[in-house]
Amino acid sequence: MQAHERGFFTEEDSIEVVTGRNIDAKNERVRTAMDVIIRKLHEAVKEIEPTREEWFEAIQFLTRVGHMCDEWRQEFILLSDVLGVSMLVDAINNRKPSGASESTVLGPFHVAGAPELPMGANICLDQKGEDMVIHGHVRDVEGEPIAGATLDVWQANDEGFYDVQQKGIQPDFNLRGLFRTGPDGHYWFRAVKPKYYPIPHDGPVGQLLGELGRHPNRPAHLHFILKADGYQPLITHIFDPDDPYIGSDAVFGVKKSLLADLKRVNEPERARQLGFAGEFWEIEYNFVLAPAGNRMRLA
Ligand code: BEZ
Ligand code: FE
Repeated sequence: MQAHERGFFTEEDSIEVVTGRNIDAKNERVRTAMDVIIRKLHEAVKEIEPTREEWFEAIQFLTRVGHMCDEWRQEFILLSDVLGVSMLVDAINNRKPSGASESTVLGPFHVAGAPELPMGANICLDQKGEDMVIHGHVRDVEGEPIAGATLDVWQANDEGFYDVQQKGIQPDFNLRGLFRTGPDGHYWFRAVKPKYYPIPHDGPVGQLLGELGRHPNRPAHLHFILKADGYQPLITHIFDPDDPYIGSDAVFGVKKSLLADLKRVNEPERARQLGFAGEFWEIEYNFVLAPAGNRMRLA
């Protein structure tokens, strides 16, 4: 007779007793997932051997995480982010063919419906920050330009705040825009140099980071969502490689291929053409989109 058939619970048989109870599950995928989670959780409890007080503290922590969630704030996603789980799920679901640009987390500050702007537009609407021009090409894995690709862009300002965090201080849709490539796949727009910023850390996830001796900061970055017919959408960032937090992103979003090259440019004639007052920053970054198709498996 197997452990779960005896029906008695023992410390030694706990995993078999509990997972055995799930054999009549209506959904095989749910049963498989729950069996794995139960097994790993029991293993963790057996290794940690929490006191009853410690276990109750863990439950109270999760309760606080839940209470923090509303229409605007998703503390469970933040928890998943700081535990590296969001990036792991992203990696599993975005295995790309060689040469295709890599993805990273979406984050909570994307706003649907950003205005479509003419190529070259300045997404900085309040003239604050250090001028920056960003340009490059969107291509396929064969190196052919992709026409009609959209780039949905958003970034924090030079003080590390998104417009939605500073309503009434920054103009709506500040540092956001949608651009569409022409036949040559080229894109360019003007912006400002972003700054690092903390993820929301005034709740239980912030307290957990504090307990773990971790800071809440994300290195400076620009967000992109690229879409084009026949290609996999790409949710990604490009990062400032010289940011003080580049090696310790609170949500593990940094990948080597996403480090941009930020050049300081002192060319008065180019500055004048771009409408910049003086020195500016320049990034050239090319995107490569993977063809639409099935999820790739690890070999
Ligand atoms: C962001 O980059 O906007 C972000 C990502 C994950 C958590 C918080 C913010
Ligand atoms: Fe961000």
